[in-house]
Amino acid sequence: MKKREVSRTLLLLTLAGSIGATSLSSCSSQESGEADTETTTASNDQAKMEIKKEAFGKTKEGEETTLYTLTNANGMQLKVTDYGATITSVLTPDKNGKLGDVALGFDSMDGYQSDAYLKSGPYFGSAIGRYGNRIAKGRFTLNGQEYKLAQNNGENHLHGGTKGFDKVIWQAEPLADQNALRLTYVSPDGEEGYPGKLTTTVTYTLTDDNEIKIDYTATTDKATPVNLTNHSYFNLAAGEANDALDHVLTINADKYTVVDGSLIPTGEQRAVKGTVMDFNTPTAIGARVKDVEGGGYDHNYVLSNSDGTLKQAATVYEPTSGRMMEVLTTEPGIQFYSGNFLDGTIEGRGGKTYSKHYGFALETQHFPDSPNQKDFPSTILEPGQTYKSSTVYKFSVKENAQ
Ligand code: BGC
Repeated sequence: MKKREVSRTLLLLTLAGSIGATSLSSCSSQESGEADTETTTASNDQAKMEIKKEAFGKTKEGEETTLYTLTNANGMQLKVTDYGATITSVLTPDKNGKLGDVALGFDSMDGYQSDAYLKSGPYFGSAIGRYGNRIAKGRFTLNGQEYKLAQNNGENHLHGGTKGFDKVIWQAEPLADQNALRLTYVSPDGEEGYPGKLTTTVTYTLTDDNEIKIDYTATTDKATPVNLTNHSYFNLAAGEANDALDHVLTINADKYTVVDGSLIPTGEQRAVKGTVMDFNTPTAIGARVKDVEGGGYDHNYVLSNSDGTLKQAATVYEPTSGRMMEVLTTEPGIQFYSGNFLDGTIEGRGGKTYSKHYGFALETQHFPDSPNQKDFPSTILEPGQTYKSSTVYKFSVKENAQ
């Protein structure tokens, strides 16, 4: 048997719960005679994982990109490309055990490079940095010096600028024994206007509890704002519905940060009680979406039980499929974005048109525009410190789903 076949066979044995051996193997296309794929496998008495690696296509500048597929013991799959450390696909089971893709995305680089995608800039599944969300007028002052950032959202700065962390190629390292992929990006001093050389890692782990765990670290050589997040859009109906408005959402937040017409916080943290912003009790996204100013939800919620450790921030339930998603985070805030700017110009996976509210994002984060808001928790990373942040998206099926 070829090495590749051996590792596949071992994986299947593991999935059936019958392994005992310890092994670590890696097999490339040259060895197997197959095109452009490679696997890294690790096993021990408890678990056995395989990370598949394949070509994903070229960027417009001609750089090669790679796609990594992580699979867990339940058959759940997570696909991540080194382009933008982007989650392209999340396969999870529904109430009948049928796998479906719950993440908006594309099966090759072509989708991420299409004119429609680049024009509307939805950031499907990408790592966002150096600063997730908006910085007013692309300016802030730090240690007496004013910094000017790219203004890529009207006069404001959004999601790290014109070429943020979502549009660069990260150095990827499969960690097969942890069923994880670690990606590293070194952002040079002055990139998009930010001070300091920032070294960032994002590690995606797929656990056998059907969790996607995202761990971020960053270090810098000059003080700089840092606010990293992931911009996955979900639709738990996995292609069986044309919008996400029936999803039932809970957000554990008593307050949100009020914004002006350009979505910049005014500084006020307002109570959600008695308003369309209140998701403390499970409520369909679509129940009040039309009453929200600005065409839908696009707001940062102040998480009530945040204390810097992993705490439950939100849950989402899709009644038809029975799928549930829980979001846990160490961050103090979460941006709930109901896909208001999806305008039907993007054709997604399976020929689906991604129109308004097709998917929603729950972006864990510090609050928008913190570098200009004295009463918000600080986002400044100093030399010698290590930025750390973790978020978990946990998938399950609700008991008693009809
Ligand atoms: C922002 C939206 C923006 C979207 C896509 C979200 O995080 O809050 O205003 O349109 O990202 O760029």
